[in-house]
Amino acid sequence: MTAPTTTHPVAGHVRATPKVSGQYGVVPGAPAEQADPCTMVIFGATGDLTKRKLFPALYQLAAEHLLHPTFAVLAVGREPAETDDSYRERIRAALVDSDEVKHFDDEVWQRLAARTFYAGGDANDGSAYDLIKRRLAEIEHQREPHECNRFFYLAVPPSVFETIVRHLSESGLVPRHADQHERPWARVVVEKPFGHSLETAKELNALVLSLFAEHQVYRIDHYLGKETVQNVLVFRFANSIFEPLWNRAHISHVQITAAEEVGVEARGKYYEEAGVVRDMFQNHLLQLLALTGMEPPPSMTADAVRDEKVKVLKSIRWLTPETIPSSAVRAQYAPGTIKGKPVTGYRDEPDVAKESTTPTFAAARFYIDNWRWQGVPFYLRSGKRLGKRVSEIAVQFHAPPHLMFGGADGSEPLQPNTLVMRVQPNEGISLSFEVKVPGAAVAMTQHVEVAPVEMDFTYAEAFGETAAPAYETLLLDVMIGEMTLFLRSDEVEAAWKIIDPLVCFWEQHPPAHMPTYAAGSWGPAEADQLIAADGAKWREP
Ligand code: BG6
Repeated sequence: MTAPTTTHPVAGHVRATPKVSGQYGVVPGAPAEQADPCTMVIFGATGDLTKRKLFPALYQLAAEHLLHPTFAVLAVGREPAETDDSYRERIRAALVDSDEVKHFDDEVWQRLAARTFYAGGDANDGSAYDLIKRRLAEIEHQREPHECNRFFYLAVPPSVFETIVRHLSESGLVPRHADQHERPWARVVVEKPFGHSLETAKELNALVLSLFAEHQVYRIDHYLGKETVQNVLVFRFANSIFEPLWNRAHISHVQITAAEEVGVEARGKYYEEAGVVRDMFQNHLLQLLALTGMEPPPSMTADAVRDEKVKVLKSIRWLTPETIPSSAVRAQYAPGTIKGKPVTGYRDEPDVAKESTTPTFAAARFYIDNWRWQGVPFYLRSGKRLGKRVSEIAVQFHAPPHLMFGGADGSEPLQPNTLVMRVQPNEGISLSFEVKVPGAAVAMTQHVEVAPVEMDFTYAEAFGETAAPAYETLLLDVMIGEMTLFLRSDEVEAAWKIIDPLVCFWEQHPPAHMPTYAAGSWGPAEADQLIAADGAKWREP
């Protein structure tokens, strides 16, 4: 790192020698043989997720030669008139328009297109599964029987999860495999939301696990596929200087933020039922909390990592009707301005009730009741239509015990050291600390000017633009049977146990006046008051 130079705060730099190692997820650049021969069957062929995330990820994997040469996709959708060719055209157009595909290369697409097929059918209807079987037989004819591995991706609304998993089991497409090493393998990938509450998540888990073994079920939380989220564990446990400080003795509090500029867009119907707590807290934010707060696992195997995450989730103190009013706030976005453009308020979005009390923003204080974290608040916040798209974990250390500089004479108080893990954008890590401002020729004992500066590491600067998009990592992990970045059934339930009391209390006690925040702001005043009550302040990243 170079020393900071002119203005404050000042960014330093990190140069890195890229290395490929470790068994945590799949590293781009890993050899193609890692991926087994397999077919991906997508339910929800014409849906948004398939167009916006799944095919761009497959395209990228094809571009990097990470797919097995016989890899194939069978997309199942409800449009009977669609053919293989017309579906390929539809996907090609989506890829050309996609922000995730930086340079569309027709040669790459032709390779993937030749292995992309369509089956028209209603996934609620048993006959669709006969058609899927027939098409799979055609597509996989050049593979040996033990190579006919398949994964079934449920990119559909949760209301049809249950029906599809039953049909997959009854049709024999996904037989229960007691042994993880059985070949050919059959896996099921389930998108979030996994359940709508603790009770429904338990029911869904019970159903899924009555049909398949846990090792066949890949529950997605796409945040876990993000490079920087995976890096939290590497940062914590591959360095020795931070871990001794990673506890209540040195850390004053942790702020976890997932802020979005976008509103609910075309998802008003889903969002009205979900709200920000189910949509973002139950999964993404609690995963970030778990990775930040967990104990070191004995190894990086999927179960060792997930065991530690479950332990920390189980140590989170439950919110109660008595503590919720002082521990959590909710609000909805009102009209405002985003990037200089006026935008509408939540209640005026399509498919949103005029009297809706669904929160689009929430902030909450959680405590982890264990030896490491006792008394350290973890503040979580997330909202749509906030000032900036940013997700980060900010770990704030205690202020020095005795202040010789700053504060005393009315000047700015010293800023406590803060370590920020930036999940997105500008992925990286920064550490702020105080330095003496050069030049003041006054004796140290009288007045010394102090200013905060930052040591800053960015992935882009250190490694170039190599970060793999989340879905690329996750799809490859399904193909190689790597489950670390997927949620286990007990983990999903542990997260619901934390979230359920809050959503239930709020739903049973709708506010007389829903607090609002202007679109483009950093949330409601109530969120500032929540954290100010502890003497802290939200960061404005
Ligand atoms: C999804 C939520 O899980 O995550 C969306 O359903 C949200 O509402 C999205 O917009 C945010 O993901 P990202 O990767 O853009 O931070």
